[in-house]
Amino acid sequence: MKYSVPKGTKDILPDDIYRWQKAEQVFAEVCALYGYGEIRIPTFEHTELFQRSVGDTTDVVQKEMYTFEDKGGRSITLRPEGTAGVVRSFIEHGMTSLPSPVRLFYNVTAFRYENVQKGRFREFHQFGLEAFGSKGPAIDAEIISILVLFFARMGLSQTRLCINSIGCPSCRTGYNKILMEYYRPNLTKMCHDCKGRYEKNPLRMLDCKEDYCHSLATDAPKLLDHLCPDCLEHFAGLKTCLDSLEIAYTVDPGIVRGLDYYTRTVFEFVSEHVGTQGTICGGGRYDGLVETMGGQSVPGIGFAMGVERFLMEVAAQGIAVAKTPDVLLYIATMDPQGTAYAQKLAFSMRKEGIGCETDLVGRSFKAQLKYAGKTGAPYLLVLGTDEISTQKARIKRMSDGVQTDIDLSDIAGIACNIRK
Ligand code: HAM
Repeated sequence: MKYSVPKGTKDILPDDIYRWQKAEQVFAEVCALYGYGEIRIPTFEHTELFQRSVGDTTDVVQKEMYTFEDKGGRSITLRPEGTAGVVRSFIEHGMTSLPSPVRLFYNVTAFRYENVQKGRFREFHQFGLEAFGSKGPAIDAEIISILVLFFARMGLSQTRLCINSIGCPSCRTGYNKILMEYYRPNLTKMCHDCKGRYEKNPLRMLDCKEDYCHSLATDAPKLLDHLCPDCLEHFAGLKTCLDSLEIAYTVDPGIVRGLDYYTRTVFEFVSEHVGTQGTICGGGRYDGLVETMGGQSVPGIGFAMGVERFLMEVAAQGIAVAKTPDVLLYIATMDPQGTAYAQKLAFSMRKEGIGCETDLVGRSFKAQLKYAGKTGAPYLLVLGTDEISTQKARIKRMSDGVQTDIDLSDIAGIACNIRK
C-alpha cells in the first residue's frame, strides 16, 4: 500500500522551506516594527465559536468546516481561519483591560473543505494580525501599511490594493431590503443555500461561488452607495490616511468578504497570479465581534494572508529568495580511522556553530567528494592518515579552489577561517 497526502494538503520539503522561513521571519520583523506581539492559538476550537463569529450562513460554516465529535461528545472544528480564536483568546484572557490598541499577530494553519484548485487548498497557512480597541480609520490604514511594508521587504511589487466599506448594522437594514428587491425575481433559479440566505442574511448571496448566483452578484446594488453618514465619514478618513501614507488603492464596491463579522472597512490585495479568486490577502474591521462573542464592546480590525498564495506571487514575479547553506563544511575521509576522527571533529565544529557533514553511509572517497558538491557546502576538508597523525590539514574553498592550512587541534581557528 502506497500512501499519498490527502487531497488539498501538501508537504513542505527542506528544498522549499527556506522560502517559508524567510517570509515568516520578515513578517514577524515587520509586525514587531508596529508593536505587534505574537499569539499562538489552538488548532481546534468549539464549533459554536465559528458558527457565531464567521456566521452560520457563510460558505465557510455551511460547507467548508472540518467538524467532528470528539470522544467526550463535544463538537469540535479545525479552525478555518484565525480571527475567531484570537477574539476568543482576547476575551478569555481579559485583554480588554490592556492599553489600547492591543496588537496581536499570528502564523497559523487553517482548514477548509474547498474545491481544490490553483491557490485553493484544504489545509493552508495564514499570516495574520488583529488590532483591538481603536475605531478611527488611522489604524485601518496602519494595518494596510504593514502589508505594503512586508511586500516591499520581500521584494514584491504589482499587487493591487482594493478597498471598500460595507457599513454598519444600521446601514445594512435599509440595504438588505434593496438587495432582496434585486434578487426576488431570480430567487427560484438561485442555489439552495442562497434561497436560505435571502431571508436570513442577503449580503451573503453576494459572495456565493455558484455560477448563476455569482453572475447575479455583479450587477447587484452596492452597499457603498447606501452608507450612513458616519460610515461614509469613516471611509473618507481611511482614504485620506492612505493618501497621506502614499499607498495606492482602488475602491472596489464589489468586495463584501465571505465572513459575517465585518463592518465598515474591508480590503484585499489581489493579483492575477494566484488562482481564480486572485486574493493574496483579505481583511477588515469587525466592530461588533468582540461583543457578539461575549466580551465588551471593543472595535477590532485585522487581516490574513494566504502564505501559499503569497509564495506563488513571489515565484510569479521572479523574486529569488536567497538560500544560505546550513552545512558550511564537508569532511571527506579515506579510511575507517579517518571516519571516526571526522565524526569527532564534526561534533567540535558544530559546537563552534559551524554546520558540518561527514560520511555516515560508507561512500568511497570519490563518492564523498561528489556528495560534498551536492550539499553545496562551501568548504571541504580531506582527512587522511597523514593529516590525523601530523594534525596538519587544509580546507578548500569550493568557489575558487583556494586552500588554507589549518591545525586540526585548533578548532576555534578552523571555525574562524570558515566564517571569514
Ligand atoms: P479570508 O479572506 O477568508 O479571511 O482568508 C484570508 C486569506 O487566506 C485569503 O486571502 C487567501 O489568501 C487565504 N485563503 C483562504 N482560503 C484559502 C484556501 N482554501 N487555500 C489557500 N489559501 C486560502 C480570513 O480568514 C479572515 N480571518 C481575515 C481577517 C483577519 N479579517 C480580519 N482579521
